[in-house]
Amino acid sequence: MLVHVSLGQAQTALDSRDPQIEGLIERMTLEEKAGQLTVLADEIRLLNPNTNPDANRRRADELLKEVRAGRVGALFNGRGVEGARVAQRTASEESRMKIPLMFGGDVIHGYRTVFPIPLGEAASFEPVLAERTARVTAIEATAGGLHWNFAPMVDIARDQRWGRVAEGAGEDAYLGKLFAAARVRGYRGEHLANADSMLATPKHFAAYGAVAGGMEYNTVDISPQTLREVHLPPFKAAFDAGALSTMSSFNEINGVPATANYELLTKILRGEWGFKGFVVSDYTSDMELIAHGYAANEREAAKLAFLAGVDMSMQSGLYIEHLPDLVKSGEVPLAALDRSVRRVLRIKKALGLFDDPYRSLDPAREAADLKRPEHRALAREAARRSIVLLKNRQNVLPLARDTKIALIGPFAEDRLHLHGPWTLFANDQEAVTVADGIAAALEDPTLLQVVQGSSFETPLRGGIDAAVQAANEADVVLLAIGETHDMSGEAQSRTDIVVPAAQQMLAEALAATGKPIVVLLRNGRALALQGAVRDADAILVTWFLGSETGNAIADVLFGAANPSARLPVSFPIEPGQQPFYYNHKRTGRPFIKGEAREFKARYREVPNEALYPFGFGLSYSTFEYAPINLSGTTLPWDGKLTVSTRITNTSDRAGEEVAQPYIHDRVASLTRPVRELKGFRKVKLEPGESIEVSFAIRRADLEFVGRDLKWIAEPGVFDVWIAPSSVAGTAKTFRLLAEHDAAATSARTGAD
Ligand code: NOJ
Repeated sequence: MLVHVSLGQAQTALDSRDPQIEGLIERMTLEEKAGQLTVLADEIRLLNPNTNPDANRRRADELLKEVRAGRVGALFNGRGVEGARVAQRTASEESRMKIPLMFGGDVIHGYRTVFPIPLGEAASFEPVLAERTARVTAIEATAGGLHWNFAPMVDIARDQRWGRVAEGAGEDAYLGKLFAAARVRGYRGEHLANADSMLATPKHFAAYGAVAGGMEYNTVDISPQTLREVHLPPFKAAFDAGALSTMSSFNEINGVPATANYELLTKILRGEWGFKGFVVSDYTSDMELIAHGYAANEREAAKLAFLAGVDMSMQSGLYIEHLPDLVKSGEVPLAALDRSVRRVLRIKKALGLFDDPYRSLDPAREAADLKRPEHRALAREAARRSIVLLKNRQNVLPLARDTKIALIGPFAEDRLHLHGPWTLFANDQEAVTVADGIAAALEDPTLLQVVQGSSFETPLRGGIDAAVQAANEADVVLLAIGETHDMSGEAQSRTDIVVPAAQQMLAEALAATGKPIVVLLRNGRALALQGAVRDADAILVTWFLGSETGNAIADVLFGAANPSARLPVSFPIEPGQQPFYYNHKRTGRPFIKGEAREFKARYREVPNEALYPFGFGLSYSTFEYAPINLSGTTLPWDGKLTVSTRITNTSDRAGEEVAQPYIHDRVASLTRPVRELKGFRKVKLEPGESIEVSFAIRRADLEFVGRDLKWIAEPGVFDVWIAPSSVAGTAKTFRLLAEHDAAATSARTGAD
């Protein structure tokens, strides 16, 4: 199940010295060197000013002056080829060293064509899908004049209050690793030097998802084991897949801000993992060392960040301001400065910028590649494969195309909240609304009545009355409710992760009509569903689906697509359960269903379980799992066990099931989670078809980070499941034998 990949070829390829780059380094002044390590917001091209707080801003002409003086190495979040060519001409033809600029950007889930938010796409449990959407994202973003993507975000998010849950692959490290690697491959394409390839930046290094209380930018206090087991593996997977830059995170970890964290940025990243790319700070995160109380002033902040291993400084301007002097005074060794410059220049070279500074700055490609029909088709496919069906009482779904529908809710006709957070380069007007998608799918569009019912966060005068009337006239109510696009993403932590009160009131009023209700939930995180929303007849989790939202939802509603996605985050019963994640520890007094409730690890109000757990999702088909089989009861130290089951489609509809193997280590020298995902397989089954699904278990699958921070496995008893979710199924047990166990020797021959 575990795939141990050797260090990516991309990393080792950067090992030898390059005469062209060494020649440049020899001739560069200290200021020009610091310039290559300085990244600034692109004020030359149209910029979305609300993406980051105002800091160190300048006018376009001032910025061009800096570029000409060699005081800037890269620009970010600019849009359009024309302005980029002006900036590139200034750098590569008019500056003394003629070193081309690199253009970066936050292209998190699509450029012009918007795909589902990464969390939604992770629900597909199809890393290959993420690789394909990342590829198209790179094609469009490079057509728009970017080389360097500030993505993928690979932070593991175990607390749904954190707004940035939306940007990652959810709560599980195994799923996170696969999606991290897939996205890196997609951005990169076949060869980094290709005009449609992008440099990927797995971010935010590291443990940003572990901020206390889920509050944005907050402190992280974490055991080194959890850091290494949960938060670091997706980064390692991304680097193994060839990512050559990473971004340091805003948070501190156990008292040391990540942006000045030598252990993280140098010892682990370079020492243990052999990373050969460069590290960029997050936006002003070097300057924020002062606010953290870790640096006394800007000069010290620059020094601490740089010496810890941050090669490039984003937006603060601290490196260009202080690095030359820090080198002159001997506080920063010249060799260290040269090393960082070398890292950056090598990657510029690997991108092909020295051969052609105008790579990815081609107006013809910009005109042709941004609106290709196949990109929209992929957006529709990705969107429908991201929708999770949580509930389908009496098979209310799929709907017949002649159903009389009342589509109600603030998201019914809305256009501004289709794309979701982090879509700086797209055009809202180009996305398909829920109402338009449904109308297009109906035999007779007059069967659809659309009523807003409520605003996003405030009631609408007469809204509920109009909604109830429409509901009474319809066969079914489709309730389009949930979170707005600015309730998740950066700086959007929430305390109360529920559907906003005004919309909840609307839902309660509609429930009283007695009409069947299908909730179309819009969300950037797992929500605690309550009252009439929780009790609706059907619930579809539609995240933020992007350009093809309405069409994809209609595909699922009317059965053109059979839902096959599974939750990458647990939906809690109550918000107060956060942080909640399926792979929690057992505790000394675990609450076990059906057993005594008192003096157990539980809340007074609710059991400590999910309303809808990680890995859960329904289909219009039904599947049955046979009891699992193990190829033996012991796993020799260097051997292999096979766990298998037979899955049968017991319905009359073809559908896809996601088989998920989990393990639990019963007794260990450090306590282990109740379950851990170790693989998954999405299988398509025709009506009545059966398929055997098997997974190999090796010692590596049983490893954890031990007291000495090394990955170890310990002999002993393990539970194993193959199940349709993180709480389903019946376990079998096996024993991992010790290295020199006699039984191991005899079993090894047979087992291997
Ligand atoms: C801050 C965010 O944390 C980061 O993800 C983003 O890449 C930068 N801003 C640049 O916009």
